[in-house]
Amino acid sequence: MRTVEEAVKQAASRLEDAGYIHGAREAEIFLSEILKADTGSLVGKYDDQLDDATFDTLMEAVAKRLNGAPVAYIVGDQAFMGWKLKSDERALIPRPETEQLVEQLIHEIKDYKLEHGDFLEIGTGAGPIALALKKYFPGATITATDISEDALDLAAENAKKLKVDVEFIQSDLFENVPEKKYDLIVANLPYVPTQKLAFVSEQILDWEPMIAIEAGEDGMLYIKPFLEQIGKYLKKDGIAAIEFWHTHGDPVKDIAEKTLPGYEIDVRKDLAGFDRYAFFLPN
Ligand SMILES: C[S@@+](CC[C@H](N)C(=O)[O-])C[C@H]1O[C@@H](n2cnc3c(N)ncnc32)[C@H](O)[C@@H]1O
Repeated sequence: MRTVEEAVKQAASRLEDAGYIHGAREAEIFLSEILKADTGSLVGKYDDQLDDATFDTLMEAVAKRLNGAPVAYIVGDQAFMGWKLKSDERALIPRPETEQLVEQLIHEIKDYKLEHGDFLEIGTGAGPIALALKKYFPGATITATDISEDALDLAAENAKKLKVDVEFIQSDLFENVPEKKYDLIVANLPYVPTQKLAFVSEQILDWEPMIAIEAGEDGMLYIKPFLEQIGKYLKKDGIAAIEFWHTHGDPVKDIAEKTLPGYEIDVRKDLAGFDRYAFFLPN
């Protein structure tokens, strides 16, 4: 037996010795998850005794981390805009920059009074965008697609977890999407150019699905056809938004000027100061 504090310290030093600079924080996350406590309250339990079986479970999580697994896949969830979404190898781990995309979309939806609209997401992954939008706008009707059945299964589990109703469709881009017009279309499709994969961390490449990351030589393999077809599905006073690779602001603009004539194309930066999003807004 040992105290909770001793267990955390032991787990943290195993991680830190192996170069995981956030070892202490990760050890706390693992133990909080095992004890079903939130990380903030763990310190209040520091003097409690931890039984051997629980300690072994903690060290199993540490071993997985030392093997390179992302924290979200080890604990099985990822926070997104305050909700805990199930996360595993079936889909990309939802990212903070995608939270920023959703936050901006929420403002636009309110500005354009689309709270009760028909929304479409292409490439939903674990479902963060579609599910957050449904949480914010329960009066909206949301359809979310992905080419990956695995991702859709996980997204459906997350919809159940968040108790929201979203229609999921397996589809290669717009292929199986009903031919109708939507008030809002959003996509965070794969956008890493093949030759830039060398700059993506090994942890991502080894663990997260490549179908969610790589997007051909120019990184536009999915975004280009998406933008070419979007006009057919977007209402003339509807809005759209995408996330993209930070050097793609110009090509995204060039394509959208042709495919969404009359729309304002607003390229926006992420918090790190990189071009990251394009919003397509009716003039
Ligand atoms: C970058 S991930 C984003 C997932 C999710 N939207 C998010 O923000 O976390 C891209 C998603 O697009 C899906 N995808 C890849 N190719 C696709 C295609 N041709 N049609 C539809 N979805 C596709 C992948 O399976 C993956 O789930």
